[in-house]
Amino acid sequence: MKSNVILKVEDLHTYFRTSSGDVPSVNGVSFEIKEGETLAIVGESGSGKSVTSLSIMGLIEKPGEIRKGKILFGDVDLAKVSESQYRKLRGNDVAMIFQEPLTSLNPLFTVGNQISESIKLHQGLDKKQAKIKGIEMLKHVGIPRPEKVFDSYPHTLSGGMRQRVMIAIALSCQPKLLIADEPTTALDVTIQAQILDLMRKLSKEEHTAILLITHDLGVVAEMADRVAVMYCGQVVEFGDVYSIFDNPLHPYTQGLLDSTPKFFEENEVLTSIKGTVPTMDNMPKGCKFCPRCPLAFDKCMEAEPQLKQLDNGRQVRCWLIEQEEAIS
Ligand SMILES: Nc1ncnc2c1ncn2[C@@H]1O[C@H](COP(=O)(O)OP(=O)(O)OP(=O)(O)O)[C@@H](O)[C@H]1O
Ligand SMILES: [Mg+2]
Repeated sequence: MKSNVILKVEDLHTYFRTSSGDVPSVNGVSFEIKEGETLAIVGESGSGKSVTSLSIMGLIEKPGEIRKGKILFGDVDLAKVSESQYRKLRGNDVAMIFQEPLTSLNPLFTVGNQISESIKLHQGLDKKQAKIKGIEMLKHVGIPRPEKVFDSYPHTLSGGMRQRVMIAIALSCQPKLLIADEPTTALDVTIQAQILDLMRKLSKEEHTAILLITHDLGVVAEMADRVAVMYCGQVVEFGDVYSIFDNPLHPYTQGLLDSTPKFFEENEVLTSIKGTVPTMDNMPKGCKFCPRCPLAFDKCMEAEPQLKQLDNGRQVRCWLIEQEEAIS
């Protein structure tokens, strides 16, 4: 593995066992993230973004399981480590922030208690040093009057403040990889911008690799270096952020972009992608996007396209690309 690759996911399959059969929520996903890089995963609801991040964090619980694939973090395959090994990694080398920080902050303990606990555990500092460091971290993420917030309980803080606290806890251990699953979705626009700024600062100053999960293409444009577009548990397009926005190759990516307002564009017409994500019991035989695709042709209905490698690390899963290549 190249030395600056922090995480390499290879052919990940995460399934959920349900009464109507196995649901392949993540179905053969591969990507890597380098030091200091922000990789965004985008896609509609149910496309497998969260299950991908939970798989990396070792947080898939029964009836779910990682069925196949590797999650290489350095030389360690996270798909195979035990819960006790994971506990050492989580909040140490790998940290995660969620959409709703209340679910991951403990309501019974003060902010200070939780941040110091994490610092004591991962950095081996004593109580007094951990408090100093904890207050410093709260200040670092732009929390005004950090001493006061240190002694507060999570429910007394606003959503934006709670998210900052979560980020402070995540960062207090200087993780090599930060996984942020819809970190700003529940926040208003101003706070959202501040949190994104904070994450950008982090990747620049600390070279933290960030896996950013969002359905908001505006956030992707602002934050990401590279983008993975997911549909029905698979990556359908992959590339650097400029190529994805300037020249989307997959009709699904084109659809997502056409339904997103662009800045500074007058009289633009927004169109939504027709139809809905197929459920397990009506999964198409061929391309999974075929029933919604405005450009579908016969072959799309018959067989599933593979993810094709193009120049510059670009990848696309679409018969149109195969066809174009065959003609040229
Ligand atoms: N605990 C579970 N049991 C059964 N199926 C699950 C479970 N968790 C997720 N799934 C299924 O896995 C698929 C992917 O879900 P996931 O939460 O990863 O989507 P997502 O892309 O994060 O969507 P959203 O944008 O709504 O957060 C969905 O079809 C979902 O129903
Ligand atoms: Mg999700």
